[in-house]
Amino acid sequence: MSEPAGPQVGTSVDEALAVLRRGGLVAIPTETVYGLAADASNPAAVRRIFVAKGRPADHPLIVHVGRPEQLAAWAATVPPAAGVLADACWPGPLTLLVPRAAHVLDVVTGGRDTVGIRVPAHPLTEDLLLRFGGGLAAPSANRFGQVSPTTAAHVVADLGDAVDYVLDGGACPVGVESTIVDCSVEPPQILRPGGIPTEQIDALLGGALAPASGPSRAAGMLAAHYAPRARVLLAASAQEAAALATEVGPTAWVLDRTGDLVAYARHLYADLRGADERGVVTVVAVLPLAEGLGHAIRDRLAKAAASSTPGSAFT
Ligand code: TXA
Ligand code: MG
Repeated sequence: MSEPAGPQVGTSVDEALAVLRRGGLVAIPTETVYGLAADASNPAAVRRIFVAKGRPADHPLIVHVGRPEQLAAWAATVPPAAGVLADACWPGPLTLLVPRAAHVLDVVTGGRDTVGIRVPAHPLTEDLLLRFGGGLAAPSANRFGQVSPTTAAHVVADLGDAVDYVLDGGACPVGVESTIVDCSVEPPQILRPGGIPTEQIDALLGGALAPASGPSRAAGMLAAHYAPRARVLLAASAQEAAALATEVGPTAWVLDRTGDLVAYARHLYADLRGADERGVVTVVAVLPLAEGLGHAIRDRLAKAAASSTPGSAFT
């Protein structure tokens, strides 16, 4: 019998640790999406992430740590806003950009003078990070430009044996990536809406957040991104979606979870992947209101739509 192709998948934190310590790549479950992790202090290991994803080398990576107190070890200084947000939201779906400490590798920051840090909330990954002790550089564990993975099976489908071990922590409960807040500027700015709503960040900062402007602007965030193979059309209401779907015909499928934004976010990427698997040609997605998790869902759907619109102003 020949060995089945693909990476090892399992729930062994010991195995994940061993792979990381020898410079390998481990897909890690987080509350948002799966990450493709390497030892953030090992440049050769971090470079392998870019090869596995097909990601441009100047796109910076988020460093994941086990405890909020570790922020100070990766930052040159901890801006007051970063301290407030870390205390209130970590572990949780929030990434803070802070001035980088001198030891942070250029391959992690893309040569920038800031580094993104987050403490993910997932029991297996928390255990892994605490035992590892250092930081894990990890982007989402998808091929560059594609829909992020929210299950171990998605990771295997995207990356195959380019990843050494997939730590299977089940389906990610939040389902969209972390909110990125740039705390290296005054006032702090949201660069990517995500699992922690903008309103909550603004309230924690006493209304000091810079007003949002347009689509997410984290480095390397393209307007076209998060794209399924299907074309994605956006609708402002269920009625508009039904009309669009009728126009398109039987190859259209309507995605509308606006009645429950937690479920919309949690299932968004699996819904888009499922549409591709079923051969759906056109996804007609109903946009939620721009409040709470609606900010992140709208952002991802707009990017999926921009990727699939020839001649779009965004591409
Ligand atoms: O929820 C998440 O944030 C997931 C999980 C795995 O933690 N990670 C994730 O990473 O979404 P990634 O690489 O797919 O998206 C992070 C975004 C990228 O657009 C990257 O360019 C940007 O954050 N970014 C990271 N560090 C940055 C920095 N120092 N300055 C500006 N942008 C940065
Ligand atoms: Mg990503």
